[in-house]
Amino acid sequence: MTSEEIRLLAKEADSRLDSVHSSESLEAFRVDYLGRKGRVTRLFEQLKTLSPEERRLLGSSLNELKNSLEKKLEAKVSSLSPPPRGREGFFDPTLPGLRPPQGRLHPLTQTIREITALFERLGFEVVEGPEVETEFHNFTALNIPPDHPSRDSFATFYTREERERESPFLLRSQTSTVQIRVMQKRKPPLRIVAPGRVYRPDQVDASHSFMFHQIEGLMVDEQTTFSELKGILHLFLRRLFGPETKIRFRPHFFPFTEPSAEVDVNCFLCEGRGCSVCGGKGWIELLGAGSVHPAVFEQVGYDAKRVQGFAFGLGVERIAMLRHGIPDIRLFFENDLRFLRQF
Ligand code: PHE
Repeated sequence: MTSEEIRLLAKEADSRLDSVHSSESLEAFRVDYLGRKGRVTRLFEQLKTLSPEERRLLGSSLNELKNSLEKKLEAKVSSLSPPPRGREGFFDPTLPGLRPPQGRLHPLTQTIREITALFERLGFEVVEGPEVETEFHNFTALNIPPDHPSRDSFATFYTREERERESPFLLRSQTSTVQIRVMQKRKPPLRIVAPGRVYRPDQVDASHSFMFHQIEGLMVDEQTTFSELKGILHLFLRRLFGPETKIRFRPHFFPFTEPSAEVDVNCFLCEGRGCSVCGGKGWIELLGAGSVHPAVFEQVGYDAKRVQGFAFGLGVERIAMLRHGIPDIRLFFENDLRFLRQF
């Protein structure tokens, strides 16, 4: 070891310290030079091998190097730590705070939660089912046999690999599939609502989308009558749209309910006189409903002679659009914050 070596080490340490800008690299620097196996420490050990004369000379310059590095380290530590807060610091508690941006639930999520909460108060349990379904759950079990023409208006979005198989998979076209799944697993009495996404081969326009949301309802017991269906829907729709709401049941056809009905509410915009929202009819179609068809009970292994039930299905977008005056279904899916922030 020579005094030139010590001088070079000091110079190198100085320039390296200049490029230290974080407490991590400062600590690495400290270990590298002053740690137990650090470069300065190792030089101290070499002192032992020198003559007393050299030891004195080099020993004192080594000490100098060590002390100056320690001082510089300390100075660096305080330059890296944040400036003091409080009375002497820059912190001004009278300045207005920074508000973190607050998120919100999508209007469809809000609508689903509101509707399911209403049904929960009527004793219904919220359940969910898969969006990728078997043909059996989407059609056959719902009394829509393989050659039934009503499959056509739903049949799309099959998964390619499964097309060859015996029971292909497809994106469900209705939440009625969840009726089947629940009945396959459980015995009556049942009272469920099932919210979720459904898919249709529909041309997209202001009121149609290839994907939208439904809420399915199902009640099964030994005696569950059509008048109970009417009572429950009446209660539900009045809670949703107000106590003055009028309701109309129109005869309809669904393969999985008999008798079946479409349920309308009176148009609250024109109060029945006819306007663009109700298409001049004075009524707005909101739900499909009916008594569960005995063939459906047989598909899930229930004794159709001993149980009765009703089911209904409603479109979530439709209801949210009516309640908030939203003119176009596509607004829900464009993720434009200027739209979403209004709810
Ligand atoms: N699944 C039907 C549809 O999507 C709605 C419905 C549900 C009708 C339950 C009757 C009973 O149009």
